[in-house]
Amino acid sequence: MSVLEVIEKKKHGRSLSADEIKDTINDYVKGVIKDYQMSALLMAIYFKGMSDEEINALTGAMIDSGDTVDLSSIKGTIVDKHSTGGVGDTTTLILGPILSAYGLPFGKMSGRGLGHTGGTLDKLEAIPGLHVDLSVDEIVDATNNVGMAVAGQTANITPADKKLYALRDATATVDAIPLIASSIMSKKLAIHGDCLLLDVKVGDGAFMRDRENALKLAETMVSIGENFGRKTVAMLTRMDQPLGNAVGNGLEIQEAIDTLRGEGPEDLTELCIALAVRLIAMTCDGDPKRIESDVRALIDDGKALEQFKRFVENQGGDGRVVEDPSILPKAEHTLDVKAKFSGFVQAIPAHDVGILARDLGAGRITMEDKLDMAAGVYLHKKVGDEVSEGDVLATLYSAKPDALKEGGERMEKIVKISSEAVHVEPLIMDEVYHGL
Ligand code: URA
Ligand code: CA
Repeated sequence: MSVLEVIEKKKHGRSLSADEIKDTINDYVKGVIKDYQMSALLMAIYFKGMSDEEINALTGAMIDSGDTVDLSSIKGTIVDKHSTGGVGDTTTLILGPILSAYGLPFGKMSGRGLGHTGGTLDKLEAIPGLHVDLSVDEIVDATNNVGMAVAGQTANITPADKKLYALRDATATVDAIPLIASSIMSKKLAIHGDCLLLDVKVGDGAFMRDRENALKLAETMVSIGENFGRKTVAMLTRMDQPLGNAVGNGLEIQEAIDTLRGEGPEDLTELCIALAVRLIAMTCDGDPKRIESDVRALIDDGKALEQFKRFVENQGGDGRVVEDPSILPKAEHTLDVKAKFSGFVQAIPAHDVGILARDLGAGRITMEDKLDMAAGVYLHKKVGDEVSEGDVLATLYSAKPDALKEGGERMEKIVKISSEAVHVEPLIMDEVYHGL
């Protein structure tokens, strides 16, 4: 069947066969199908959707377009987590040490940040000496010997997704659930593993702004995972304001260390514990209450933090960072943003804070941009907190005095203060799984 017939079929809302989807993806990667033809098909998918069978075929075709990573020589049940992207989301660097201290191998391939969201690899590189360019064999060795590794992607994973994602970005077809779900899941499934926990963010700083669409995305991703034999659970979590207090690479490393010591922000701590408990429960029949008290004990007795230090040192990083924050890069300039009136913090829109942190130097506009590891935003107040006029709401960090001054003016508008008390909604909204 020609690509014209495939587009025609989808335009009228008919289902494509697995072979039609496979051939289309293969021909697109080869350049036989042109960008303008694929654009038309993507827009037809945007409007007409895809059945579960079509979504599974699309995911499979994207996995088959590149390498798969065999981590099967990692001993034990291999767990992985993925967040659909947020602001100040430091969870991987807290969850990894907790899980590996518990005895679950945590060998993860992570990404870099772009736009308003940060990437785990960038955050890690704030630690002097630490490198993330591990080969697959090195990931396996580190995971078997130390329990944990976080690395960039060396293999040529899902090239079809790379090409399609760039085209979607340029044709306003990113936000179609079948396309987001197959894009994320193909990258996860191309890497060997047993259990996958998806943290699907909902709200201002996320792809999915409302609960209904986030649930649909979560259900689609869980179905794909189960279809490909991976135990998959999704948790829907709120991303209306940044997670924790810190947004920025070095600042978030410090926040991860504080949280592993049991002194972190409440929202971040509780989310990490909930994610850890859910992921551990996927690997065994344990009672969640027991698992939770075990997880809290790993923080209280310092085992999780010790594990973080071992992981950092194994990847060449300076492990003294755990006791001595002065090792982390220091910002040249700081600015305190103060409350103009008394009241209660009503909103701190995550997207705006992410963009502000990026403009201070913590993030990228294009993949080539250099990062300022010390730049970012530290929130002293969060939604629901009572504030008095003159209280410091946030501290901004940057090497660029002009960006700092302009950022201060923006931050005053970003933080909304109300005269009435504000109700804070629970961070975890829902959970999606199939018969686990
Ligand atoms: N993240 C991805 O990897 N793919 C998408 O389509 C959206 C978010
Ligand atoms: Ca944070």
